[in-house]
Amino acid sequence: MWCRRLMRLDKYLCKSTDLTKPEAIERIHNGELSVNGEVVLDESTQVHESNTILLSGDVLTLRAFRYILMHKPAGTICSNIDEVYPSLFNYLEVDNASELHIAGRLDADTTGLVLITDDGRWSFNITLPTKSCKKVYRVTLSRDIKDDVAHKFKVGVQLQGEKNPTRPAELEVISPKEVLLTITEGKFHQVKRMFAAVGNRVVGLHREQIGDVSLDVEEGQWRYLTEDEVSSFSQ
Ligand code: URA
Repeated sequence: MWCRRLMRLDKYLCKSTDLTKPEAIERIHNGELSVNGEVVLDESTQVHESNTILLSGDVLTLRAFRYILMHKPAGTICSNIDEVYPSLFNYLEVDNASELHIAGRLDADTTGLVLITDDGRWSFNITLPTKSCKKVYRVTLSRDIKDDVAHKFKVGVQLQGEKNPTRPAELEVISPKEVLLTITEGKFHQVKRMFAAVGNRVVGLHREQIGDVSLDVEEGQWRYLTEDEVSSFSQ
């Protein structure tokens, strides 16, 4: 998981200092950057963590990756900037927040667990269907759940516009209009579309768990993942 990183020189500079991208590019064009003893003027040059990279003679070391759990409030969007709704990053007071992304987005009206990181490879363990990472949703429905839905979800339902049926999903009925659904993929509006495909409608959606990590902070709150939680997604 703690793999070495290859990236553009300007990105390396941003990830190892507090410089913005335009500031980083300016310093590179000024001839202040050297890689393995050679001055490099092209900001798109690929550099490796194992290279010796100096800024005006000082060695640059990449910041460690960050892994964050947040309880997304309703009416926020999983985007780095405010759009129709405010971004959930408004709730996250950390430096260089623009370097972070969300591993598995939720709709604006969905609440619950989101994982936020700057480690793109780690995110794939959560978002790629082939990794089979479980996501558990508490779903409130407009109509009583029918008896055959658990079986339909277990074998997979065909969603409009999709080539393949959904992967096997597990349904636990809590009450006629409240269920827990576990899925291992994240197609666009997947849970809402799955219930639409069986003649029902989602009126409330909340993500409780991703992999072995459960939501344990209040709405709008966040915390860093523990090392064990981080590595639980790489096994
Ligand atoms: N499925 C949906 O339909 N919406 C979400 O936000 C997450 C999963």
